[in-house]
Amino acid sequence: MRMVDIISKKRDGHALTKEEIDFVIQGYTNGEIPDYQMSALAMAIYFQDMNDQERADLTMAMVNSGDVLDLSAIEGIKVDKHSTGGVGDTTTLVLAPLVAALDVPVAKMSGRGLGHTGGTTDKLDAIAGFQTEIEKADFIRLVNDDKVAVIGQTGNLTPADKKIYALRDVTGTVNSIPLIASSIMSKKIAAGSDAIVLDVKTGAGAFMKSLEDAEALAHAMVQIGNKVNRQTMAIISDMSQPLGYAIGNALEVKEAIDTLKGEGPKDLHELVLVLGSQMVVLAGKAGSLEEARGMLEEVMRNGQAIEKFKVMLRNQGGDDSVVDHPEKLPTAKYQIELPAKTSGYVSNIVADEVGIAAMMLGAGRAKKEDNVDPAVGLVLHKKVGDRVEAGESLLTIHANQSDVEAIKERLYNNITISDQATEPQLIYTIITE
Ligand code: URA
Ligand code: CA
Repeated sequence: MRMVDIISKKRDGHALTKEEIDFVIQGYTNGEIPDYQMSALAMAIYFQDMNDQERADLTMAMVNSGDVLDLSAIEGIKVDKHSTGGVGDTTTLVLAPLVAALDVPVAKMSGRGLGHTGGTTDKLDAIAGFQTEIEKADFIRLVNDDKVAVIGQTGNLTPADKKIYALRDVTGTVNSIPLIASSIMSKKIAAGSDAIVLDVKTGAGAFMKSLEDAEALAHAMVQIGNKVNRQTMAIISDMSQPLGYAIGNALEVKEAIDTLKGEGPKDLHELVLVLGSQMVVLAGKAGSLEEARGMLEEVMRNGQAIEKFKVMLRNQGGDDSVVDHPEKLPTAKYQIELPAKTSGYVSNIVADEVGIAAMMLGAGRAKKEDNVDPAVGLVLHKKVGDRVEAGESLLTIHANQSDVEAIKERLYNNITISDQATEPQLIYTIITE
């Protein structure tokens, strides 16, 4: 087989065979195929697309390029949840203990944040002592004993995806549905899940800004999952404004604690119940979404959800007293209000720009190597659709720097107050096939 023939075949719009796709992925991973040939193929795929079978074959070839986390020692159906990334997206922190409280095993592998989007391990790192770098054997034991554990990205998972993603980044080929869908799905499958619930975001803070693109990506991922025998479903949810009120690591831990007690922001609470219901049904613990939702609401009410969060913290060395004393979480030196300049209704809070403001405070990373400050971030007091009076605070800036003028400027430029505004729709579409 020759790479040049495979490139030409795709360039001319033909479907590649599984053998050809395996040849490409193996050859590129081990360095036999050079970057320039892989770039050419990525560009050919960008223009010619891939059919369902090619997408599934590409996904599995990337899964098989490295280690696969073997979760077979964990009893039950392991359901993973994946978000395509957003601003102030605290759902994983809530969902993991919440569904585990219903005995759904949650073996969660999570990553760090980059750019305007946050990452779950950064949020957990805000809790004193909490360790996400744990041994695989301990990870599996914790899930078997207590149904929940979170591990940072370890091992040599999907090296082909790492290499191809880096190449796509500099060759104008990131924005391709077959390449994005196979990239995300390969990582989920390598992380050992039996079933997958996808939260595909749409809006300013999302990877896929338009609803149409988000739906296309969701369909592609669901099709791949079902083709490779992992039951997969997706919801499309709003990321035009940040989710919940808090953006920033310790601030989001506090918000997660409130939500586990049933006292969270309305949008985060609802999203968690929708995603959680799907997970509980896929895990076979409830016969219908309505039943699952009732069960989740019950463990929020009776304290079992927050109790499970404490167990999760203790098991991984974390200080569980932060649940009852959130003031023990890292706190920023300055709390600075952002007063509204006019009266009216908040009509827009541009999620990615607000995420960048939080990153500038130190809550996120501009580059992979950057450190994050757990204490800093933003807490919104108003969301889209809310009434505000001139002088009333739109949000509080939690900073460890006294000069936040540039950040204030960015926030003012990205929060619009109008004569009228309506709350955006939270959930757009549910895709099961
Ligand atoms: N996120 C991924 O993991 N892969 C892509 O290709 C795009 C976004
Ligand atoms: Ca939030």
